[in-house]
Amino acid sequence: MIDKVFRNATLFTPVDRGRPQAGPDQGAVRVVEKGAIWCRDGLIQAVGPEEEVLRSLHPCVPDQETDLEGRCVIPGFVDPHTHLCFAATREREFSLRLQGVEYLEILRRGGGILSTVRSVRETDEEELFLATRRRALSALRFGTTTVEIKSGYGLDTETELKMLRVIRRIGRETPLDVVPTFLGAHAVPEEYRDRSDAFVDLVIEEMIPAVVRQGIARFCDVFCEKGVFSVEQSRRILQAATAAGLGAKIHADEVHDLGGAGLAAEVRAVSAEHLLAASEANLEAMARAGTIAVVLPATAYSLRKPFAPARTMIELGVPVALATDCNPGSSYTESMPFVFGLAVLLTGLSVEEALTAATLNAAYAVGMAERVGSLDVGKQADFLVLEGETPAVIAYHAGVNPVVQVYKKGERLKVKG
Ligand code: NIG
Ligand code: FE
Repeated sequence: MIDKVFRNATLFTPVDRGRPQAGPDQGAVRVVEKGAIWCRDGLIQAVGPEEEVLRSLHPCVPDQETDLEGRCVIPGFVDPHTHLCFAATREREFSLRLQGVEYLEILRRGGGILSTVRSVRETDEEELFLATRRRALSALRFGTTTVEIKSGYGLDTETELKMLRVIRRIGRETPLDVVPTFLGAHAVPEEYRDRSDAFVDLVIEEMIPAVVRQGIARFCDVFCEKGVFSVEQSRRILQAATAAGLGAKIHADEVHDLGGAGLAAEVRAVSAEHLLAASEANLEAMARAGTIAVVLPATAYSLRKPFAPARTMIELGVPVALATDCNPGSSYTESMPFVFGLAVLLTGLSVEEALTAATLNAAYAVGMAERVGSLDVGKQADFLVLEGETPAVIAYHAGVNPVVQVYKKGERLKVKG
């Protein structure tokens, strides 16, 4: 048993009330001046004002005591939506987009997601692992201690499973907690061009059973979008996935308002992501169903589209989470601080709301809130020491890394330099 105490910290943490935080609760962050965290074997035993923490554990003597010198401490970021597992980047496509070619037009021409599919199919598993690990460790340097990673660049059973094995290895061979999501319906592969229903059948009849048999994913996601998968096709896939025991997620209303947000509420998806074009009626349905909105401001930024209406979501009572969406097409960043800054400065979230969105609500969005997402007794001692006095520094000190120390299960990770 190893007991560690971290003293003299200024703690900022959302409070876990047993559900994702919505409406006014989203901004209700606990602040403790001269606070402390006591952990045993990586799990928080006590947290709060230093004197109380020390008193509650008396006469136990810690094996290690760290003075955090009054610095600002927040829970480790949880990035609940990424496509970190890919091989080649798509810089040329980025330049095309800068010249005005639309993201979905590039996909229609056989580029975009489909070009990443070609490279992932060709890349051997070890190389794919090394490329993914590089990005995961970069995310860790920016304070991400738990990450969801999707498959979706295989689009055949064999390559989807290859990606999911790589994703599983990231969880085993890096300090990060990794949540794997199966995204077999990310695009219609070239060999099924104009036969998307047949591809949906393949996803339902072959891929989902194979993924479930191997126990290699926790969630199933679908890209519900004009020219990709319809609401009806997405419904079939998500119903099959939930019947097989996977949680449901959906890329909804990113470019067009097809009604993916409404489908998320209907199938009781844990979350709907993107939502740039979602209607207010469907956001209300999400609020009623308790579906989490995973907002991806770096994607709107990179696609140069209006941001998702995060403020309206909070006013409607939809719990909001934040994620990078890190992928080689629409959002090439591993940085949660960057996403945090965009959310605060450009989507109108307060610093406190953004903090809950990037930690506790994100943990709920990936089914990890029992272990991570807030500084609460029983959870892992995953936390960040920031430069500056409050979490506002994350938005304020723009374009740099405000995370000076990263702790995972009470262990300081070497992340700088
Ligand atoms: O969330 N929209 C679909 N999927 C990703 C992009 C994937 C890609 O372009 O490679 C997204 O934006
Ligand atoms: Fe995505």
